[in-house]
Amino acid sequence: MKIFVPPIKSQGIKTKLVPWIMDLAPKTNGKWIEPFLGTGVVAFNSGYKKAILNDTNPHIINFYKGLQKKAITAPLIKQYLELEGELLSKADNNGYEHYLKVRSRFNSEFSPYDFIFLSRAGFNGMMRFNKKGNWNIPFCKKPDRFAQAYITKITNQVAAVSQIIQPKPNWIFHNKSFADIIPLATENDIIYCDPPYYGRYVDYFNGWTEKDEELLFTLLSKTKAKFILSTWHHNDWRENEMITKFWNKFNIVTKDHFYHSGGNIENRRTVVEALVCNFEADNFQQHNHGLREKLKERQLTFQLLDQEAESSRIQV
Ligand SMILES: C[S@@+](CC[C@H](N)C(=O)[O-])C[C@H]1O[C@@H](n2cnc3c(N)ncnc32)[C@H](O)[C@@H]1O
Repeated sequence: MKIFVPPIKSQGIKTKLVPWIMDLAPKTNGKWIEPFLGTGVVAFNSGYKKAILNDTNPHIINFYKGLQKKAITAPLIKQYLELEGELLSKADNNGYEHYLKVRSRFNSEFSPYDFIFLSRAGFNGMMRFNKKGNWNIPFCKKPDRFAQAYITKITNQVAAVSQIIQPKPNWIFHNKSFADIIPLATENDIIYCDPPYYGRYVDYFNGWTEKDEELLFTLLSKTKAKFILSTWHHNDWRENEMITKFWNKFNIVTKDHFYHSGGNIENRRTVVEALVCNFEADNFQQHNHGLREKLKERQLTFQLLDQEAESSRIQV
């Protein structure tokens, strides 16, 4: 499967997992509904002609709505990046001064053009907002970031996504909570949820509590649509307790995945990813990569380790 990569970057981007997700996703007659859109990479590769896409991050939604309205176009992005790229390459402190200028301009004016600049010139393609909601990723330290080939690549991505999300009535963007979106789904639709992972990375737009997970579970339990939820299953240190608390009642398939970025070492290691779904798939075995049975053994091992730790605490 050739994956179309969107113009926005983020550390949680699911590009490498798209073939796995789409392989599990049944083809339905209805809409693709994605309450936690992020960069949009999954929706844009879903092959659906109708979609409802949502994110609480207004900058993502403004960008895609701007493309739909043609207030943002590929030629305008090219022109903008050529101008800003030139200023970046000539700026003091190896370009850092200009990066800081664009960052503070974005944090007061929220231009979708500056949003793309920061997404593509920030450290490691990360997207992170501080407690005040300001973009706070440092510069990638490449003053020549916007070389012609890179601008062409971004411009092509913008042109391709503009094609996918037209015409407007069939691709609808919202800037709401997931709780307002899931109830819109009907029997023929498919919902793909990729919420912030409980107990892991947090920022201004990615706070996630057990209450949020519970609300998501309640809404997905009630939906008549088919759903797929992405979450983490376990890593070398611990299990995702939300799996036993909520998701075990549905079908679960798993896969090892390596996340490259993230400030904290635990976020940078291999994670066993899970897809939770409310339907049967005839190809489950192939999705489990031999892990489904092992997971039960693994849960037992974790329980035994917990018991051992508990009894050694009692002995001390
Ligand atoms: C893990 S990211 C999604 C990544 C996406 N699948 C991709 O591949 O780029 C989670 C997204 O959920 C959004 N989000 C966080 N809390 C939300 C909420 N309560 N309702 C809707 N979206 C939310 C965040 O802004 C973030 O973009």
